[in-house]
Amino acid sequence: MKFFVDTADIDAIRELHALGMVDGVTTNPSLILKSGRDIHEVTKEICDLVDGPVSAEVIALDYDSMVREGSKLAEIADNIAIKVPLTWDGLKACKHFADQGQMVNVTLCFSANQALLAAKAGATFISPFIGRLDDLNLDGMDLIADIRQIYDNYGFETQILAASIRNANHMSDAAKIGADVATAPPAVIHAMANHVLTDKGLDAFVADAKKAGIKIV
Ligand code: E4P
Repeated sequence: MKFFVDTADIDAIRELHALGMVDGVTTNPSLILKSGRDIHEVTKEICDLVDGPVSAEVIALDYDSMVREGSKLAEIADNIAIKVPLTWDGLKACKHFADQGQMVNVTLCFSANQALLAAKAGATFISPFIGRLDDLNLDGMDLIADIRQIYDNYGFETQILAASIRNANHMSDAAKIGADVATAPPAVIHAMANHVLTDKGLDAFVADAKKAGIKIV
């Protein structure tokens, strides 16, 4: 499973990138707001740092404006994936950019039917939002499984990009189901390294090393 980082925080991306943990980046208007940076500047900086796809989202709601905005975002770098919402106009914009050979990430997907339409429209990535479904007491992971089955039934090449990931379990569950990509906030990727038994085991080893007077260097 590829790891994308769901942030526009350049320092956080740089840290994970140095560890080989960053196959791509996803941003959205809320993450740009959080960064306090200009969208063009920060997106360019991310694209210069990361080789993989960097999703940059349009804010327009109608097809013509989405095409204008998406074209402008695509000028930032070759690794831009234009992010469009899963609306009818968004699907039209997806088809337009896909026909041009541009990477497209169709976002705000909450149903298997929406994912089916995005694949038909040539999306490179479909972004089902797990956490926001879980917030409504629905099972976001069921949606990932349904989309996996549908795409596999028909050999769709659209990559399932599990999004709105809120905890480390979401990452392993998405990987078990076979999501192609998971995009997670930096804190969730860090949390994947944690286990209470690791901490407990380490405490014991450190104490015993002290008792034994072990010196390695
Ligand atoms: C995906 O591309 C979105 O940026 C993101 O995963 C949304 O997550 P949220 O529901 O935590 O805002």
